Amino acid sequence: MQSKEIRERYLKFFEKRGHTIIPSATLVPANYDIPDKGTLFTTAGMQPLVPYLLGEKHPAGSRLVDVQKCVRTGDIEDVGDNRHLTFFEMMGNWSLGDYFKKESIAWSLEFLTDKNEGLGLDPKRLYVTTFKGEDGIPRDDDSVIFWQENFAKYGLSAVVGTDDETITGDIRILPLGREDNFWIAGVTGPCGGDTEIFYDVIGEKKGGKLFGKFSDLTKSGRLIEIWNNVFMEFNKTTDGKYEPLTKKNVDTGMGLERTTLVMQGKANVFETDIFVPLLTFIRSQAKSYDEMSARIVSDHVRSAVFMISDGVTPANTEAGYVLRRVLRRAIRHLDKLGLSGEVIFDLIKIVITNFSYAYPELKDNKAEILEVIRAEDEKFRLTLEKGLREFEKGIDAFDLFQTYGFPIEMTVELAKEKGIKIDVAVFGEKMKKHQEISKAGSEQKFKGGLAGTGEVETRYHTATHLLLAALRNVLKGEIVQKGSNITTERMRFDFNWPEKLTAEQIKEVEDLVNEKIQEKLPVIMVEMPKEEAKKAVTTLSFDLSKYGDTVKVYKIGDQSPVGQVFSAEFCGGPHVANTSELGHFKIVKEEAVSAGVRRIKATIV
Ligand code: ALA
Repeated sequence: MQSKEIRERYLKFFEKRGHTIIPSATLVPANYDIPDKGTLFTTAGMQPLVPYLLGEKHPAGSRLVDVQKCVRTGDIEDVGDNRHLTFFEMMGNWSLGDYFKKESIAWSLEFLTDKNEGLGLDPKRLYVTTFKGEDGIPRDDDSVIFWQENFAKYGLSAVVGTDDETITGDIRILPLGREDNFWIAGVTGPCGGDTEIFYDVIGEKKGGKLFGKFSDLTKSGRLIEIWNNVFMEFNKTTDGKYEPLTKKNVDTGMGLERTTLVMQGKANVFETDIFVPLLTFIRSQAKSYDEMSARIVSDHVRSAVFMISDGVTPANTEAGYVLRRVLRRAIRHLDKLGLSGEVIFDLIKIVITNFSYAYPELKDNKAEILEVIRAEDEKFRLTLEKGLREFEKGIDAFDLFQTYGFPIEMTVELAKEKGIKIDVAVFGEKMKKHQEISKAGSEQKFKGGLAGTGEVETRYHTATHLLLAALRNVLKGEIVQKGSNITTERMRFDFNWPEKLTAEQIKEVEDLVNEKIQEKLPVIMVEMPKEEAKKAVTTLSFDLSKYGDTVKVYKIGDQSPVGQVFSAEFCGGPHVANTSELGHFKIVKEEAVSAGVRRIKATIV
């Protein structure tokens, strides 16, 4: 069964059982760059649904099903083994205060085993774990009973394992502690005990009767986890308390890649139809083939394509750093395979072609994806050249990171190849300091709306004003700023507008901003009384009541009394003195943030 069919069967199976199919949310959580709030990427299907799991009414109803794009990089070093990936898809069905353990368990077993509507797997090869209770949260005996009832339909007596955690005889259900069978995304939020479903990939015929300590069987890869059903009963608060939820939920997650591995009887995910086209291509082109490098390249390129398509651009912090890291790691392994620059673009195109049936946005974003990767590839190669020279002279891993964007892992790898040892602890110290500084910077940024006074940021800041003015001109509406965030790599700007901008509008906005840059307009700051400022500005995005009597207004455009000012904004600054300092303005992404609010990401290079 092809991965496409697995996906379709899953959605249909649950749709038939009253679930509404909802689209995957973006990989980038809405609040991803607010310090200490949320994760950098969507790491599980439940994440975009948190408000609904906490009780808000979902417009699509109380039973939902989807396939969610996810990124998890905690296991990046394991990529290349039989099952770890940085990007994966999670199939999930949800009950928002609707059904609970009984239906959830019955449907899971039905979907896994039914030949017509489901996957037709042999129930004898399925094993499950349940929550045995810990820290005052009670043992889940209901799930044990429901599993036994359902396995009995296949004539299987599912015996419950003991504390020695050994699978032997008829043992098919193993209660485990909170480490294994209690699920929460991060530190706070909706959570509960879970039941996990494992498949014996070798089977009794080839591998003999399953026997051994459960953790050894999963480590060896004979038992592979394919599905997790979380029974959410609590909300863990910031002070560590477990508050009971008013409505209990079911959150399930079934990895598409692992399920495909099982269905196609393969030893690892890279042999499934999801990865074969990438691996085959690499094998056909490589000058010195290495399976591990080929797997890493396949995973990382796929990951990068999806991240960029969802608006991430390479940077030295946060999500942008994760992207930079996977891309640069992919490029390094391509080099190891003897594959020059061009191959990466073929691989990107394979990803876009093969996954567009499920994610049509990949096709829409193709040009942008290729461009971002081309630019990063170029930058990295220059960096690599310069960095390697420095590296030869004597290594300061932190300098390499800060000046050349060398991920520490890469420096360690390079050093290893050359037989040099890196003091990671020293790097850690310097990194901590660096993070403290940038954290202070971002706190300031979120208070004042400014990103600091770095030169690049200043340029982006002025570009933000040009963008806002251009939007007002092109859209002919009362556009105001709803949010702004600047890094050294890009600007992000949120504004009020009810619908997607057309390609023509985007082009017009870009052209207008570039025109103003080419016109070499002076940027002038005038201090004036608040009341006067309110009249002078072209837009008023801020509540001025918090400010003093005299405020600053930055004007861009003709400053003569008869001339037209292009932009006049209440603002704390700083700005460049002349728009000619900005470079070429390009919109790399336009997307929705929430109802009535759009987001533009743009670069000036
Ligand atoms: N939220 C659960 C998981 O990600 C289903 O495993």
